[in-house]
Amino acid sequence: MTTAKQLRKKYINFFKLDPRNHVEIAPAPLVLENDPTTLFTSAGMQPLVPYLMGRPHPKGKRLVDSQPSIRLGDIEEVGDNRHTTFFEMLGNWSLGDYFKEEQLSWIFEFFTKELGLPKQRLWVTVFEGDSQVPRDQESFEIWKKIGIPESRIIFYPASKNWWSMTGSPSEMQVGHIGGPDSEVFFDFGEDMGFHEKSNLSGMKCHPNCDCGRFLEIGNSVFIQYIKISEGQLKELPQKNVDFGGGLERILASVDNTPDVFSTDSFKEIIGELEERFRVKYGKDESIDRSLRIIADHARASTALISCGITPSNKAHGYVLRRLIRRSIVHAKRLSDQIFMPFVDLWSCGVPISRVDREYVKKVLDEEIEKFERVLETGMKKISTIIKNKERISGKVAFDLYQSEGFPIELTLEILRDHGVELSQKDKALFQEEFEKHKERSRTTSAGIFKGGLADDSSQTIRLHTATHLLLASLRKVVGDHVVQKGQNITRERSRFDFPNPEKLTDEQLRKVEEMVNKAIEEDLPVEYQVMPINDALSSGAIHAFDERYGDTVKVYFIGRSWKDAFSREFCGGPHVKSTGEIGRVRIKKQEKIGLGLVRIYLAFDK
Ligand code: SER
Repeated sequence: MTTAKQLRKKYINFFKLDPRNHVEIAPAPLVLENDPTTLFTSAGMQPLVPYLMGRPHPKGKRLVDSQPSIRLGDIEEVGDNRHTTFFEMLGNWSLGDYFKEEQLSWIFEFFTKELGLPKQRLWVTVFEGDSQVPRDQESFEIWKKIGIPESRIIFYPASKNWWSMTGSPSEMQVGHIGGPDSEVFFDFGEDMGFHEKSNLSGMKCHPNCDCGRFLEIGNSVFIQYIKISEGQLKELPQKNVDFGGGLERILASVDNTPDVFSTDSFKEIIGELEERFRVKYGKDESIDRSLRIIADHARASTALISCGITPSNKAHGYVLRRLIRRSIVHAKRLSDQIFMPFVDLWSCGVPISRVDREYVKKVLDEEIEKFERVLETGMKKISTIIKNKERISGKVAFDLYQSEGFPIELTLEILRDHGVELSQKDKALFQEEFEKHKERSRTTSAGIFKGGLADDSSQTIRLHTATHLLLASLRKVVGDHVVQKGQNITRERSRFDFPNPEKLTDEQLRKVEEMVNKAIEEDLPVEYQVMPINDALSSGAIHAFDERYGDTVKVYFIGRSWKDAFSREFCGGPHVKSTGEIGRVRIKKQEKIGLGLVRIYLAFDK
């Protein structure tokens, strides 16, 4: 069995060696600060965006790393043999240097020569082209030349073979970069039964089929476009390569098992769970499912806590709480013990130290305890209902879930154990409430989870624009030394840090608040321009000094024209269309947070 450590090392060394000559870079933190649109690092390219857009990277044009990432889009899928929320992404980049020919040959060499994957087990996919971007014939020819027969090179549309943080060219957010990609799939050779409908003529099963026969092990993205407006892509000043391959999945291919949970990455944790719950992995599908969920969520939770996140009902903390609670529900399925293993993993780019270990355990234990109380109260309520032989209505069952946070699966299970069945009518009512709830949480989480994008609710967007007004006003009232040193926006408030030796006086605060509200009342248009960085800088647009930008930047301006704009600020968006949409705001609080920084909380004035 190849270990995760061996594989990581092999990959990094392979790309460091001549003639590839890559420089290894440290991975970015799992939780990105100062970015209201992103909850987690979900791809290795995320922290490199400015360099992919043209800014020179201090370490050169060829970079390699292994980036811990979290993707929550598939959280419901975790439990099968391949999906995880937390994973390590092996990545190599060409920042305007080598392109398709080198990338595809090198990655093929890595898979087949370095790792010894049999050539005949590899399939590749390429972009079929659309109205804006031509078919990727070049990659097709390269793959053929390398030795992949035409029958195993499959063309797909943008939904499968285009990559950007926000999807295909039509879905992509303006200002985002992306391009066609070419994926490599490992073929386990076994038809696993269920086949997604394919529109590929004559192919029942194909690389992107979800039956389990194929596993995607690498994706070479040819990042060469930026979306400048709806329906319009523009060539970036340079052509880049962004390769990402899931370490756990590559391990599975090397071990020739379609199950990532039986690889070295999960060996220890699954072993611990087997012992603790006195079960055996690989014998019973429903037990395996619970073990996988606990194992994955424990890894993700450990990583998040070690990055400083604590369980809460908001943003990152909410995700963490959901992961912990979901894994506890599965632990309860397996035994009476509520147990969540601590996972010693390499996260946030640094190994968890002893001290962190204790801390992570403490946070986990506290949340488990909290949740135990929730479970207890819920159990009591259900017992009373059962004891009194009350008729349990769909509404009561749902309320238990809604108000106590008592997991629905457990309610149903306990009722079933006691022979209590909901009447058909109540079942329907329960289902109806439940579906409504699911829909609600889906829409909330769609914003949060899509590709790692943070909450894009209208409240958050409105507060985002208000924060631009706040910064511009602070500069006008307090002085030009005010720059953004930190920012965090939720639906309820925007938190903004800036350098100032002292807290603002009441008079200054009042002036700033008035100025922001005046700009809101004037219902100023909010627009942006995509422009070369030097033009943006000389226009005096505000930018964060410790941020790295590419050659082309997006500048949002608030005002009737660019020239007399109230605010001009480097930003990716999103924003409201005009300031009137924001509604009145107020400065809720200010704090001195040390290091010469002042923190202001801005909220809606209800
Ligand atoms: N950006 C691509 C991905 O995340 C490849 O690194 O899949």
